[in-house]
Amino acid sequence: MTDFVKLTYGDKIYRLPVVVGSEGEKAIDISKLRQETGFITLDPGYANTGSCKSNITFMDGEKGILRYRGIPVEQLAEHSTFKETAYLLINGELPTQKQLNQFSVLLNDHSLVHEDMQFFYLNFPRASHPMGILSSMVNALRSFYPELQNLEEEINITVTRLLSKVRTMAAMSYKIARGHKVVYPRPDLMYCANFLNMMFDSPVRPYIIDEDVVKALNVFWILHADHEQNCSTSAVRLVGSARVNLYAAISAGIAALWGPLHGGANQAVIEMLTEIAETGGNIKPFIERAKDKNDPFRLMGFGHRVYKTYDPRAKIMKKMCDKLLSKFNIHDPLLDLAQELEAVALKEDYFIEHNLYPNVDFYSGIVLRAIGIPTNMFTVMFAIGRLPGWIAQWKESMDDPHWKLGRPRQIYTGPLERGYVPIHHR
Ligand code: CMC
Repeated sequence: MTDFVKLTYGDKIYRLPVVVGSEGEKAIDISKLRQETGFITLDPGYANTGSCKSNITFMDGEKGILRYRGIPVEQLAEHSTFKETAYLLINGELPTQKQLNQFSVLLNDHSLVHEDMQFFYLNFPRASHPMGILSSMVNALRSFYPELQNLEEEINITVTRLLSKVRTMAAMSYKIARGHKVVYPRPDLMYCANFLNMMFDSPVRPYIIDEDVVKALNVFWILHADHEQNCSTSAVRLVGSARVNLYAAISAGIAALWGPLHGGANQAVIEMLTEIAETGGNIKPFIERAKDKNDPFRLMGFGHRVYKTYDPRAKIMKKMCDKLLSKFNIHDPLLDLAQELEAVALKEDYFIEHNLYPNVDFYSGIVLRAIGIPTNMFTVMFAIGRLPGWIAQWKESMDDPHWKLGRPRQIYTGPLERGYVPIHHR
């Protein structure tokens, strides 16, 4: 039996259906609100708005829970690979060995990037940010790989192309930016090892693949693989709702992820820690600035719209950070600063009262530094990781029988109607 919420306005009572998710999350269905009452809702930043029903990812921000298709991210980080997790997110179930092998073959078959795309890369100014390049190049893929006639084949091939080529394109952009020869993907290497090889192999110093680094990259990408209706995923769904091709929708997601309040925070954290180090290593003034209402400065890598406790991804990232640095005997002074900053912030009333804890981006930059990834490519690494989530969410929205073009409303607060005044009378 459907439960209802009663909305009373004047002498009228409206009954709004209650929707309950599989984990007991409750929503009020307002899809007929305007039609029945003439009202819309106002919710800046959509903090209280469910834009869709989804069976991909479950998060509980109070308890610090994150599950993909029901499986805790901790278990996936420990036992799975990024490729297998990508399959799970996109297809809904973990693959059998045969399905995983077929998926690997497809990824290999589509790993090359059209040679002509190199000319595009060569013509970006050298100082271009890799996220801007990636967003443009993903959009450009549609011109190189036009639509296929069979819809199912089109979707499957486009998905595989994206997963495989984005990794090649990211490494290619790094090599070209450095003026080095591009390293091609190798069919004998697994997804993460292949990426590392394309990034770091060179004729003068062959890249030696280390299993712990490969594992760290797998975990890094698994932790970023989906996060339900965040800013970039909502961008992918919204842009996709206009029925654009998948490349264009993903390109929009990459652009949204670039922002420092979202995926760009991993780069911003390292820049903030570097600034602290360069100004003498005293964290106090930075904490004071973060608390000051009149200062726009925020502690990067802290806080989250949904998590009001320690981000479960940050816990895993921190452990991995310790493991990697100790294995390679790396002493990263920025890690010391990050730990000190965390310890001080977590004891400050401001951070306690505002429920501000480290998020995934706080320690991820230190992991990426240990792997050898340059700072300006951190958000590209996030984007490669988030790709399966964007694809899964896009597919789900395409299959939704209640699909609608994304088109919010507004409350207009501008001037009332007034006449045009010719320029000589102004
Ligand atoms: N440092 C200082 N104050 C903060 C911070 C921070 N990092 N984050 C939030 N606040 C304060 C904010 O000033 C506000 O205070 P008050 O209520 O007194 O005015 C309050 O906390 C609520 O902030 P909000 O901006 O309304 O909350 P939100 O849910 O929109 O913010 C956030 C989420 C991620 C944008 C924000 O926490 C932030 O800017 N963090 C730093 C950037 C960052 O690390 N982003 C990565 C997020 S995780 C990766 C991802 O999934 O995208």
